[in-house]
Amino acid sequence: MCGIVGFNGYEQAAPILLEGLTKLEYRGYDSAGLAVRNDANDVELVKAKGRLRALYEKTNGGIAMQGTCGIGHTRWATHGEPNENNAHPHCSDDRNVVAVHNGIIENYKELQAKLLRHDYKFYSQTDTEIAVKLIDYYYKKYKGGPVDAIARAMMRIRGSYALAVLFKDYPNEIYTARKDSPMVIGIAGDETFMASDVPAILKYTRNVYFIGNMEIARLGKGTVEFFNIDRELIEKEPEEITWDAEAAEKGGFEHFMIKEIHEQPKAVRDTINTSVNEDGTIDLSPLGIDEEEIRKYTQIHIVACGSAYHVGMVSQYIIEDLCRIPVRVELASEFRYRNPILDPNGLVIVISQSGETADSLAALREAKSKGIPTLGIVNVIGSSIAREADHVFYTMAGPEIAVATTKAYSAQLICIYLLAIKFAEVRGTIDTEKRDQMIAELRTLPYKIERILEDKERIQWFAAKFSNAKDIFFIGRGIDYGITMEGSLKMKEVSYIHSEAYAAGELKHGTISLVEDGTLVIGSLTQKELYEKTLSNMLECKTRGAYLMGITSYGNYSIEDSADFTVYIPKTDPHFATSLAVIPLQLLGYYLSVTKGLNVDKPRNLAKSVTVE
Ligand code: AGP
Repeated sequence: MCGIVGFNGYEQAAPILLEGLTKLEYRGYDSAGLAVRNDANDVELVKAKGRLRALYEKTNGGIAMQGTCGIGHTRWATHGEPNENNAHPHCSDDRNVVAVHNGIIENYKELQAKLLRHDYKFYSQTDTEIAVKLIDYYYKKYKGGPVDAIARAMMRIRGSYALAVLFKDYPNEIYTARKDSPMVIGIAGDETFMASDVPAILKYTRNVYFIGNMEIARLGKGTVEFFNIDRELIEKEPEEITWDAEAAEKGGFEHFMIKEIHEQPKAVRDTINTSVNEDGTIDLSPLGIDEEEIRKYTQIHIVACGSAYHVGMVSQYIIEDLCRIPVRVELASEFRYRNPILDPNGLVIVISQSGETADSLAALREAKSKGIPTLGIVNVIGSSIAREADHVFYTMAGPEIAVATTKAYSAQLICIYLLAIKFAEVRGTIDTEKRDQMIAELRTLPYKIERILEDKERIQWFAAKFSNAKDIFFIGRGIDYGITMEGSLKMKEVSYIHSEAYAAGELKHGTISLVEDGTLVIGSLTQKELYEKTLSNMLECKTRGAYLMGITSYGNYSIEDSADFTVYIPKTDPHFATSLAVIPLQLLGYYLSVTKGLNVDKPRNLAKSVTVE
C-alpha cells in the first residue's frame, strides 16, 4: 500500500516528510516523492524511482527543498509502471493542485473521459493524476475554494482514497480527504502532521485525530478543522495512541500475518472492484485478451509454486466446471524441465504473488519459447513475470510482508473466479443470469470473510490444544482437496508441525496406516455432492483413533455427530468455497505458531520470494 505524509509548521518540511516516509517503508513501495511550499512561492516537486535513499540524495536529505508546508508519498504501484513519471505527488498542469494519494480510484477511466472532454491532458498512467485534475476542474469551475472542490470530487470518485492536497492559492494549508484508506492527523504545538499510519507521526505526538470516511480536513500550522461532505464544520476529539512504534507498523496487530489475514476482505473487495463494473459486467480489457481468442482455447495450463500452485489446484475444478476447457495444473519446477506438450490454441497461466519466483519465471519463458500465449496473475506491478507475460491480471492485495501468504492467495482466487466467469460467458457455457448470480455472490465474499474472522478466538482456543501435535492430516475431495493443500502448507510453514494434504478417497491406499490415537485429521467439506464421501473417509480415520476437525457450511450441523470440533463458514457458491474455508486454516496455522512461540512472520529456512532454483 502507498504511504502518505504531510507537515505544516515553522520547521523545514522536507526532512520531516522524509523521516515520516521512512517509518512507512514497511508498507512496501517502488518510488517516492515530495511537494513543498515556501510561503507563496511556487510548489517544489521532487520524485525518485526506487528506495527512499534516491529521494534523500536528490534533496540532500530534504535540505535542498525550502519551505515549511509539504506532503510526501511512497508509491506501491496499482495503476501504471513503477517509475518517476508515475511517482507521486501528482499535479494539475498549472500546479494549481498538487496531491498524494493512497488507495484505488475504481472509476478512473470514466473520470478521465470526462476530463479529456474538458481539454485536460495526462502525463502519467496513474488513477491519482485523474483525481488531482478532477479536483482542479471543480476548483476552477465552481470557485468554491478547496473544501468545496474536494467535496465535489469525492461525490464523483468511486473507490478508496487518503488524499493530501496543496492548492496554489492557499500556500500555508494542507487539505486532506479520506474514504476507506487509513489516515491519521496529529498536532504538536504549532505544528500539524498527517500520515497514512501512526508510526510516521508517533515521534511528535500521541494525540491524534482519526479523520472519518467521506470527511475533509484543513491543516493549518498547529490547527486542524474537519468538514463533512456537505462542507459543514464538524467537531472531533483527539485520541491517545498507546501503541509503541513496532506495534503501530502492524496496525495494532501482533504480527504482519494476522494483520494481513484481516486485510483479506479489502484485498478481495479491491480485486473484484477493479474488474467488475457497477452493472455486474466483467471488464478484463486491461488484460488484452480478445473474445475470439477466449473462444478458441482448447487447453489451459496453470503453472505456479507453493500457495500459488494451490490456487491452481482449485482453479482446475472451477474452470473445467464453468468453461468446459481442459485444465492441467503443474508445479513450475516440474513444468520447466519436462519439455511440456502445449496445445497451440492453449493458454498458460502463471500465478505468482511476487512475480519473481525463479521456477515460475522459467516456466513462463518455456511456454513463450513454444509460442503459447501466457497470462500472469501477479501482485507486484512491474515484476519480471508481469513484464514478460503476454497478458497480466493484477491482484490488488497490496504489499504482503509476512512470508506466509494469505491476502495475496485470496486475491489470486478472485482473479481466477473472474477469469472463469468471463471465459464461460464468452464461450456461452453460462448465461447472463448465471453470471449475475455469481457476481452477486462474489461481492458477498468480503463480508463473509469478516464474519469468519469474528470467530477467530474459537480457532485460537482449538490451536492451543494441538500445540504438541506431531502429524496433522488435511483431507478433502475436489475443490476441498485443493483447500486442504493450502491449509497443510500454512500449518507446516509457520508452526513447523508436519502435515499432509490428502485426497480423502486416497487415504485407504496406504497413508491411513499413519493414523493413530489422537492424530488430528481435518476434513474440508464445502462441496455438497462430495460431503458424505469425505465424511465417511473422516470416520475411517476416527475408527483408527483420529481426532476429527471439520470445516463446513452453516446448516450442516449433523457433522457434530462425527467431528470432535467443527468450524462453520457462511454458505456460498461452491466454486468460491475456497475463499471462505481457507480462513480458519490460515488462522489455525497462525495460532499454532504463536502458541509455540515461533517467528510467525519470518519462519526458519523460508524467503518471501524464492528467486533462486
Ligand atoms: C506461501 O505461503 C509461501 N510463501 C510460498 O509457498 C509461496 O507461495 C511460493 O514461494 C510462491 O511465491 P510467489 O507466489 O511469489 O511466486
